[in-house]
Amino acid sequence: MDHPVQTELCKAHTLEELIRILHQLFAGDKVNVDEVQTLMESYESNPEEWSQYAQFDQFRYTRNLVDKGNGKFNLMILCWGEGHGSSIHDHTDSHCFMKILQGNLKETLFEWPDKKAVGEMQKKSERVLKENRCAYINDTIGLHRVENPSHTETAVSLHLYSPPFASCNTFDQRTGHKQKVKMTFFSQFGERTPYTTSISQENN
Ligand SMILES: [Fe+2]
Repeated sequence: MDHPVQTELCKAHTLEELIRILHQLFAGDKVNVDEVQTLMESYESNPEEWSQYAQFDQFRYTRNLVDKGNGKFNLMILCWGEGHGSSIHDHTDSHCFMKILQGNLKETLFEWPDKKAVGEMQKKSERVLKENRCAYINDTIGLHRVENPSHTETAVSLHLYSPPFASCNTFDQRTGHKQKVKMTFFSQFGERTPYTTSISQENN
């Protein structure tokens, strides 16, 4: 049954409004994945609203904290230079929403590696996500790698993780071996994180 109040909730006209509604949707203990995904997709990317958070690095993609979601989620903007990509990684039992704000991102899904056998990891599927699309993944769905397939254009994406987490596992595609890595922010609320605390940033 369609409920008018719910329908009204599912359109965000600005980034600020998106964040305000996200706070409402994550106020309780249950997360309605479809509702969050629809809401994030409804926001029409406007660079004027997010450019302050979009800080790039020459060598690898960056994670830039936008909002701490009252302790319920972390909202961040990831900036991908030409050809930049992530390792294959898990999501620490959290929900992960990924919306494209600019450019395209390629997402490759993998099965969890077989704990008993060493070998090439199994690819499940791949797709290219276009501007304003919002993808969803969790550990039950599998693992993924995200990359900017373009060698001429940058890409920017908006990620929501709930509950928030500060470390995850990355996986070697050829062996399936995993490694726990800590994640840090390149910037927080538009301010560059001091070098001493961001030095431990690793692949994730
Ligand atoms: Fe991810």
